[in-house]
Amino acid sequence: MFSRPIDLHGASPALWSQLRLEVYGVDARQHGWSTRAELDRMVDWLRPHSGSRLLDVGCGEGGPARYLAAESGARVVGVELDLELVQTARREGALPPLGSGVEIVVADARRSLGLQSAAFDAISCVDVVPHLVPLGPVLHDWRRLLAQPESRLLVIDPVVPFGPVSDAELRLRTGGVHYELRASADFSAALQKASLQLLDEIDLTPEMLAVADAWATAVQRERQSLLVLDGEAAVQHQLDFCRLILELGCSRRLRRIAYLVARGHGRA
Ligand SMILES: C[S@@+](CC[C@H](N)C(=O)[O-])C[C@H]1O[C@@H](n2cnc3c(N)ncnc32)[C@H](O)[C@@H]1O
Repeated sequence: MFSRPIDLHGASPALWSQLRLEVYGVDARQHGWSTRAELDRMVDWLRPHSGSRLLDVGCGEGGPARYLAAESGARVVGVELDLELVQTARREGALPPLGSGVEIVVADARRSLGLQSAAFDAISCVDVVPHLVPLGPVLHDWRRLLAQPESRLLVIDPVVPFGPVSDAELRLRTGGVHYELRASADFSAALQKASLQLLDEIDLTPEMLAVADAWATAVQRERQSLLVLDGEAAVQHQLDFCRLILELGCSRRLRRIAYLVARGHGRA
């Protein structure tokens, strides 16, 4: 349904794993832009600890959730829309076993999640928020789920507009899936409306550019083996995608921004 930024059908599981390790510094079966360094920063930002409860919205194959659980001892619930993705990950043994402290729930995060109020000490939502439309009800639901005023929310938006983007660039960037491009001022206003308190806004574009560059290098190097299954057009598409990310990021038109948020004391 929603593809990875880089989708290499020609890559065997072993090659995928090797490439992710090379590109991200850790193979967490991530589908976004999170490197090992970023996952470690997430531990600082979200402050999970033994016994605390973390919700990861749009968790993909649950790899980043598993990483955070393993690093901190927190219990993590991941919510993912794509049933097929979860079933495939389960078949391939990539999902955590029952009782490991990580649970994956198939649900649409645009609707109120049928989870108990105040059930979480932190929420993460990484490289997913452009799919969450309308945003207001989603933020209200997250606020409902956070337990204390100091509970943290981390939203990383990979497509924050700071300059013009052409229709052709947008089509290549999104793969034809609808992405809501939200200026950071609009996102801040939506947080305020949901009585959530913005603590910090961190520009993660340089890290995303390093990942795009590393993917381009890896795809180019593995070109011959990928061509067999993917074909010339698909491999070229991946290289064009990486180049576009570099172009949009270097020209400072689309940036990847992390919003670090506290539930705060205000009334919902
Ligand atoms: C780019 S991937 C990021 C996955 C994961 N956060 C990571 O960093 O590896 C975006 C994920 O969001 C999921 N997603 C999109 N819309 C969603 C929704 N309405 N509810 C739950 N998940 C959604 C997609 O299926 C996809 O797995």
